[in-house]
Amino acid sequence: MNSVSLIGTGNVAWNLAHAFHHAGIPINKIWSRTADHAVQLCQETSGMAVSHIHDLQEDPGLIMICVPDHAIAEVVQLCQTSGLKNPLICHTSGATPLDVFPAEWTMTGVFYPLQTLTKGHHRDFQDIPILLSSRSDEMNDKLSRLARQLSEKTTVVTDEARQRYHLAAVMVNNFVYHLCDQAFTQVETHRLDPRVLFPLLKETVEKLIHLRGDRVQTGPAIRGDVNSIHAHLRLLAGEPALAALYRQLSLSINPGLDL
Ligand SMILES: NC(=O)c1ccc[n+]([C@@H]2O[C@H](COP(=O)([O-])OP(=O)(O)OC[C@H]3O[C@@H](n4cnc5c(N)ncnc54)[C@H](OP(=O)(O)O)[C@@H]3O)[C@@H](O)[C@H]2O)c1
Repeated sequence: MNSVSLIGTGNVAWNLAHAFHHAGIPINKIWSRTADHAVQLCQETSGMAVSHIHDLQEDPGLIMICVPDHAIAEVVQLCQTSGLKNPLICHTSGATPLDVFPAEWTMTGVFYPLQTLTKGHHRDFQDIPILLSSRSDEMNDKLSRLARQLSEKTTVVTDEARQRYHLAAVMVNNFVYHLCDQAFTQVETHRLDPRVLFPLLKETVEKLIHLRGDRVQTGPAIRGDVNSIHAHLRLLAGEPALAALYRQLSLSINPGLDL
């Protein structure tokens, strides 16, 4: 297997299509629910846009389902009703288990790039961990050979391990992004400059990677500075949801706080 077809043209499909194209891995076909999106991505990379899933049937390579988790089962069913017989197929989700594929399909797997990917924003895959899962050594080998052409960090993991990494990834990326976005907005609302916080954000990541330990956390919660926390909560009086989050996180850092 040294070629791919893609189902979907969103954040992951767009980045994978560009990465495969860049690595010289042939893209056979691209299908998307909105036909124009597939045409557009084929123009940007390679491959042929197809209007029916059954057109993927004769492909020799791997079919990669890159649609939101809530749509994967629906797309798998569409593959079945479109007549795909025991395809070489995977999805790209950290959260969705392997059993989303029918048991009689023997060559199924997961190809999960553990990184935040956005359509239109190129990401070099070289340092992205790609977590692979499947039901057989043969499929793991096929997925590994493909993944290694994009990244130096490919690992075969169980369904459960991948789901745990995904849970952690949501906390590390989505929650941190959300919290920083809220913090920046809160500063901007008062006509202040969020860029003042950028060196702190960089140092926080550096500390997490290189220095993580018991004595690294700083701030009012770990010090037990309840007066500072109450002052912050007063500043957030007009934003009850953010105030509740602030209070909850402070208690998570220091459960002994009297708030
Ligand atoms: N984004 C990330 O950072 C990231 C990283 C690693 C793994 N993942 C996983 O990769 C998968 C795709 O994520 P994504 O961020 O690429 O999602 P996304 O951008 O929201 O995916 C959009 C694509 O899915 C298609 N689609 C949406 N609903 C559909 C449905 N009901 N039936 C058929 N096609 C449908 C859209 O079709 P049209 O627009 O053409 O209509 C579009 O091509 C998910 O399982 C996600 O967990 C995401």
